[in-house]
Amino acid sequence: KSATKSSYELLTLTTWLLKQEQAGVIDAELTIVLSSISMACKQIASLVQRAGISNLTGVQGAVNVQGEDQKKLDVVSNEVFSNCLKSSGRTGIIASEEEDVPVAVEESYSGNYIVVFDPLDGSSNIDAAVSTGSIFGIYSPNDECLADIDIDDGSTLDSGTQKCVVSVCQPGSNLLAAGYCMYSSSVIFVLTVGKGVYAFTLDPMYGEFVLTTEKVQIPKAGKIYSFNEGNYQLWDDKLKQYMDSLKDPGPSGKPYSARYIGSLVGDFHRTLLYGGIYGYPRDKKSKNGKLRLLYECAPMSFIVEQAGGKGSDGHHRILDIQPQEIHQRVPLFIGSVEEVEKLEKFLA
Ligand code: AHG
Ligand code: MN
Ligand code: MN
Ligand code: MN
Repeated sequence: KSATKSSYELLTLTTWLLKQEQAGVIDAELTIVLSSISMACKQIASLVQRAGISNLTGVQGAVNVQGEDQKKLDVVSNEVFSNCLKSSGRTGIIASEEEDVPVAVEESYSGNYIVVFDPLDGSSNIDAAVSTGSIFGIYSPNDECLADIDIDDGSTLDSGTQKCVVSVCQPGSNLLAAGYCMYSSSVIFVLTVGKGVYAFTLDPMYGEFVLTTEKVQIPKAGKIYSFNEGNYQLWDDKLKQYMDSLKDPGPSGKPYSARYIGSLVGDFHRTLLYGGIYGYPRDKKSKNGKLRLLYECAPMSFIVEQAGGKGSDGHHRILDIQPQEIHQRVPLFIGSVEEVEKLEKFLA
């Protein structure tokens, strides 16, 4: 038998999703939402690879709700994601890093899923063609909670938006599916629907994601740490002691290696495959760290747990945190169980 499977045996994302649907793991509507997300990712992959040619590098000239200077591709990727989800007809509400508030989708006529996403993660890397990605999570509509919200609590949001915020703000433990697409030397779509983690590589020959790794398992330990040490002086002492301990060669005579590319998707994907730990701690300037719970920390934590790893804010399981507002930030420590637990001991 040839070492590599001939193309007719290769499972594409489309056929993999249909198999999950036939097995009753996901329903027809969720299958359609996931297909529309993979379509968005293929379009963004193409836009990212040609950014310099189509004048899509550089800034948009606007500041988003995060206070960040939006890149042109932040805006375009957000439009691509939103349009693909709207045209799926199965998405009820979308919440994006690049939207101030959640958006109710009129075109929805069944499924009504809630999709949270970071349309372009690591966008500061675009102009230097360093890896970027898209991150998403899917929740079922939380209609029961709409019934009892107190919309005249004087909140500035109108009642419709307030209802959407309440419906979207669910703990990561409610996630039905989560994934990311990494735009790097390969374009890799990583997905979990709650039964393990699967990785698909985009075959540019015919524009399909092809299954390349089943049931991804993160190593229990790993000697790679991924932090922005430029913030070292701003960290609290216990974290500094942890960081210093990684540099001690110890009995093995080998200290940890530092790897940090400034794109959560790229740093996470390497951690998922090689083991180790990625961290974005709180610091004196950013009291809750930088990363957003809803569409960065929770989806990545769902994925890492499905691969046998751990996602923590230093003291609590990320998936147990109940979001209070859409763009809420939390500290994130994620990766191999032994590495995250070692950090948690220092912070206790
Ligand atoms: P985004 O580009 O979606 O705003 O996210 C950027 C995040 C994350 O991708 C990355 O790990 C982190 O910001 C890098 O932050 P620093 O540049 O402060 O290290
Ligand atoms: Mn951003
Ligand atoms: Mn991001
Ligand atoms: Mn982003």
